Amino acid sequence: MTDIRPAGPTWSDGTPAMPAALGPDPTYPGLGPAERLRTALQDSDMGTPIGEQAAAAVRVRSGSEVFPTPVHRRVITVANQKGGVGKTTSTVNLAVALALHGRTVLVIDLDPQGNASTALGVPHNSGVPDVYDVLVESTPIADLVQLAAGVPRLRCVPATIDLAGAEIELVSMVARETRLQRAIVAYCAPGAPGEDVDYVLVDCPPSLGLLTVNAMVATTEVLIPIQCEYYALEGLGQLLRSVDLVKAHLNPSLSVSTILLTMHDARTKLADQVAEEVRGHFGDTVLATMIPRSVRVSEAPGYGQSVVTYDPGSRGAMAYVDAAREIAVRGAAR
Ligand SMILES: Nc1ncnc2c1ncn2[C@@H]1O[C@H](COP(=O)(O)OP(=O)(O)OP(=O)(O)O)[C@@H](O)[C@H]1O
Ligand SMILES: [Mg+2]
Repeated sequence: MTDIRPAGPTWSDGTPAMPAALGPDPTYPGLGPAERLRTALQDSDMGTPIGEQAAAAVRVRSGSEVFPTPVHRRVITVANQKGGVGKTTSTVNLAVALALHGRTVLVIDLDPQGNASTALGVPHNSGVPDVYDVLVESTPIADLVQLAAGVPRLRCVPATIDLAGAEIELVSMVARETRLQRAIVAYCAPGAPGEDVDYVLVDCPPSLGLLTVNAMVATTEVLIPIQCEYYALEGLGQLLRSVDLVKAHLNPSLSVSTILLTMHDARTKLADQVAEEVRGHFGDTVLATMIPRSVRVSEAPGYGQSVVTYDPGSRGAMAYVDAAREIAVRGAAR
């Protein structure tokens, strides 16, 4: 049998010490190795998503697309008593996406963890005036609202650890459920500093206590993020009952306007099954856009940013921009 190994340096047993030169490739006959690589990369679909990502990033950064102004100011509670379902991530990224597309947005961080304040790059160390002062001391929002880092038209009422005591302190206070509502109405009144606000988003803690009730009394819409996981629907009945109770006794204009599916992992059947079940229950309330599970989304807060600003071309950022667009378009049509 003829030895077809190329001549060249060999090990002691005769094995070639250098890789065999690339032989002719039937896919790209007549092309050298470098040209074959270039052609193969062009032929692969790698260029398409990267191109899309780059274009999305440019669009977001240039602010060339403007979302419609809502017919009425939209005041939205982001709630789910289940922890870690994407409430804060969704509040922050939807707020940034709306602001980068021309809308004026106020985020109210109503969670003592202060995660929304962190992600928006807003100082919230102990001692900083915060939403506790609004609720307990009746300090006007205008006195402590801050501008989010690097995003025009986006303001934030931060939460510090002081808020942890508010739930207990509120219990014995007069009008304990309507304190946030009064503050928002005063801030957004004609002639007041928040008159121009199109969207107020309230990020709730993972509980159905007085803080979440304050949010529900202060808003007309509830946005529920649902994680595409096995236990996603557990506890949802309790949340919906709370919305009904607030609606019946404290705020007749409240309704669940939006459900957002978060952390969708396209590789698992389970994620699709959960999404299907949620759509079966809630129909059009569920946004068509699902937020994919993505490392970039979870990395962004570590840089005091939303994923929309941290990596605007990433899948997570593009999904949040799409979800924000859907929300904006629905509000404009009403
Ligand atoms: N699409 C996503 N892909 C990957 N990680 C995500 C995604 N969305 C959120 N996360 C991560 O999951 C964790 C929980 O998210 P987040 O803090 O938004 O949930 P939450 O409902 O506000 O939690 P809590 O109930 O504690 O307030 C965070 O570490 C966040 O970075
Ligand atoms: Mg949170």
